[in-house]
Amino acid sequence: YKVPVPKNEPVNSYAPGTPERASLQAKLKELRSQEVDVPMYIGAEEVRTGKTHPLNPPHDHQHKLGQFHEGDASHVDQAIKAALAAKQEWADLHWQQRAAVFLKAADLIAGPYRDKINAATMLGQSKNAYQAEIDSACELADFLRFNVKYMTEIYEEQPYSPDGIWNRMEYRPLEGFVFALTPFNFTAIAGNLPSSAALMGNTVVWKPAYSQIYSANVVMEIFREAGVPDGVINLIYVDGPTVGKKVFTHPDFAGIHFTGSTAVFQTIWKTIGENIETYKSYPRIVGETGGKDFILAHKTADAKQVATAITRGAFEYQGQKCSAASRVYVANNIWDDVKKNLLADIKDIKMGGPEDFDNFFNAVIDRKAFDKIKGYIDHAKESNVAEVIAGGECDDSKGYFIQPTVIVTKDPQYVTMQEEIFGPVVTIYVYEAENFDETLTLVDETSPYALTGAIFSNDRYIIEKATKRLSQAAGNFYVNDKPTGAVVNQNPFGGARKSGTNDKAGSKLNLLRWCSARMVKETF
Ligand code: SER
Repeated sequence: YKVPVPKNEPVNSYAPGTPERASLQAKLKELRSQEVDVPMYIGAEEVRTGKTHPLNPPHDHQHKLGQFHEGDASHVDQAIKAALAAKQEWADLHWQQRAAVFLKAADLIAGPYRDKINAATMLGQSKNAYQAEIDSACELADFLRFNVKYMTEIYEEQPYSPDGIWNRMEYRPLEGFVFALTPFNFTAIAGNLPSSAALMGNTVVWKPAYSQIYSANVVMEIFREAGVPDGVINLIYVDGPTVGKKVFTHPDFAGIHFTGSTAVFQTIWKTIGENIETYKSYPRIVGETGGKDFILAHKTADAKQVATAITRGAFEYQGQKCSAASRVYVANNIWDDVKKNLLADIKDIKMGGPEDFDNFFNAVIDRKAFDKIKGYIDHAKESNVAEVIAGGECDDSKGYFIQPTVIVTKDPQYVTMQEEIFGPVVTIYVYEAENFDETLTLVDETSPYALTGAIFSNDRYIIEKATKRLSQAAGNFYVNDKPTGAVVNQNPFGGARKSGTNDKAGSKLNLLRWCSARMVKETF
């Protein structure tokens, strides 16, 4: 049983005058004029607790898009119960039936729900149309379609059977329930983490970041319309510590599919360790965490190409991608040229709400992020080893706006070269062109993360040298390209060190974590 080989969903540009732009603008208007009342989804129930919180666009924090209903510990219990109750029937369903549900969801996303999922991402997470298109509609459709293909490849992998014997592998789901804890920054990741585990026959408790609830609700609407049965994916809004206390002490906890901060992931890992005797099986721990992603420009690099990579790599989606370029090493012979092009690029960036399609740049996600990012910028303004050469202004009067900010430092170990900021701040260290080998060591050793990175050079020996020397410094390594924008099935995504377990989203490796194989040997 082969499934047709999927293709990546073609990306709309939303250029002026296109029908796609008009249709998306109409959807934005419609959503802006409504107030949604967002429930939790537990088993067959839509749960409204009455304990509501407003949903506000980060670029217009006084506008109300609606409200969501927050739950408590009892809702976590109910969600786990619903997942366990739905488990057997879902696991027993022929894999083609499970596949069909998610292939239908992909078609709904790419078709009738495309505007809605994009508009919800734009309003709820302050993303421009193009970034929403690549990160929600296209990427989520791609995840769902390619995961089905990877699933069939896994099922086809069978052991050798000599004459008279039939050896076979059954790729069973995990025993128990899976917990998906998902981030605000990519609607596609938020949808992929619960659905990939569910596709393999697991049932899931899904807790999204509170700042992504507005689009998570649309993803859930699509899953339900596609036919995900009650209890297979249970979506709850309960604070992290309360969920953790219930989920990580439950004997049927079978695994976590996580994207978020390194600190939270480490706390979760420790909690799981403390409770290890409680569980029936050793839980799968799959996490994509922080990054301090680099661009290294050699003296042979094309200065204009490097400047574009910094602008796009550091500032698309306000730098709130785990893959965002945030530390840059530029050889001194090309620095003037890189700087000139970079400052010109930044001058052209228009900032404002995403409903005006001319704005490349929008707000950061919330007040906490705003304060944290501003703190790093203020530190640089006062430092005698750093200088802010572009941006640096912050204004939270209407939305959480922070200008695209470039810091240049004389100290390669300066705090903004080391720590993850998760905002529109890039720090540049200009190195002596002849000290390339020492700079490779700096790139490798300055940060504890190893998610993405890029080398720019026109010298093949240098490209080879950097690729080898930095082999552990990034799970996704780019040659003469920005370190962001991995595409499902083209650039499987994930890193090691403090960036995660590197179970490559958008590849078979990830789906393998959501099954537990049984070998059956039959003698004739
Ligand atoms: N896939 C995203 C990127 O590569 C990160 O999750 O930018």
